[in-house]
Amino acid sequence: MQRIFSGIQPSGIPTLGNYLGAIRNWVALQQDHECLFCVVDLHAITTWQDPATLRAATRELAASIIACGIDPRAHVLFHQSAVHAHVRLSWIFNCVARLGWLNRMTQFKDKAGKDREQVSSGLYVYPNLMAADIHAYHATRVPVGDDQRQHLELANDIGQKFNHDFGVEFFPVIEPLILGPAARVMSLRDGSKKMSKSDPSDQSRINLTDDADTIAAKIRRARTDPEPLPHEPQGLEGRPEARNLVGIMAALLDQDAAAVLREHGGKGFSAFKESLAALVVEKLEPIAAETRRLLADPGTLDSILRDGAARAAAIADPIVAEAERLVGFLKV
Ligand code: TYM
Repeated sequence: MQRIFSGIQPSGIPTLGNYLGAIRNWVALQQDHECLFCVVDLHAITTWQDPATLRAATRELAASIIACGIDPRAHVLFHQSAVHAHVRLSWIFNCVARLGWLNRMTQFKDKAGKDREQVSSGLYVYPNLMAADIHAYHATRVPVGDDQRQHLELANDIGQKFNHDFGVEFFPVIEPLILGPAARVMSLRDGSKKMSKSDPSDQSRINLTDDADTIAAKIRRARTDPEPLPHEPQGLEGRPEARNLVGIMAALLDQDAAAVLREHGGKGFSAFKESLAALVVEKLEPIAAETRRLLADPGTLDSILRDGAARAAAIADPIVAEAERLVGFLKV
């Protein structure tokens, strides 16, 4: 059985983009994989997080992941700071990855913007920590949204360079799993930007905790163009907002864009948005209710995370100890 690793940052409330691009695929993959799912609080602090908010967001994200359908008894759900193997291996990877490789990372360029001199050095080496997350478990399959593709290529480059430098076949090749018609959900306000938990505008995204009225209002106000929906996917070319809404519906119905357009092609956006809002509410309301139920019992949630961290460490500690031995650290 192949081992899966994936992670999500507790840097805000998870969005429909996180759900459709990642968590929903995790739920399907847990049927026939051994899975580790990680709330990556170490990654979150690469940008400023208020400490009390970070603690609460870590628990809330764990609750949301379970509410989406992850089984934390059959698989491993934990938070990154509780397993020290990640930091140990990431330091080694800081010394394996080349500056030139990090300089090519588009997400760093986007996040740093014009403020390059002022962002944390953690933000710069962020992809090395992400590579360590995966390689610490010898995971071979990583389900993510499309925005993480470049980071996974880098994780492979790092693993292969380590193997080459130390003359071993230690870290396996990672296969990115970028699945479904909503691997890149875009902002509701701007079809050229991805939907993000850290976007300053709450109107740009649907949060997994939004109530029915909020979801309907956000979808009604979503930016679109004046043309009716096309009858075929080719007609979505050059219409990023239309493509986005059709992709969201397709993913929620487990269909492709062609099937959605066979049903809705020719309709104007106001009718389509009504159907889409009803569908999003139908899928997200039970998740929000279950998240609230889980959060009412923080003791149980904490014990799930504690148990997950212990099981994660039992896998990662020997792998990282072996990496340290290969590097030449004296073990006494
Ligand atoms: P994060 O927290 O930004 O997002 C978590 C997951 O959600 C996906 N995603 C999206 N998918 C489709 N459309 C969107 N608009 C959208 N926004 C986010 C992301 O691709 C991701 O799969 N660096 C990672 C977390 C991470 C990780 C890892 C992932 C840390 N270590 C190891 C995999 C393996 C991140 O910031 O995800």
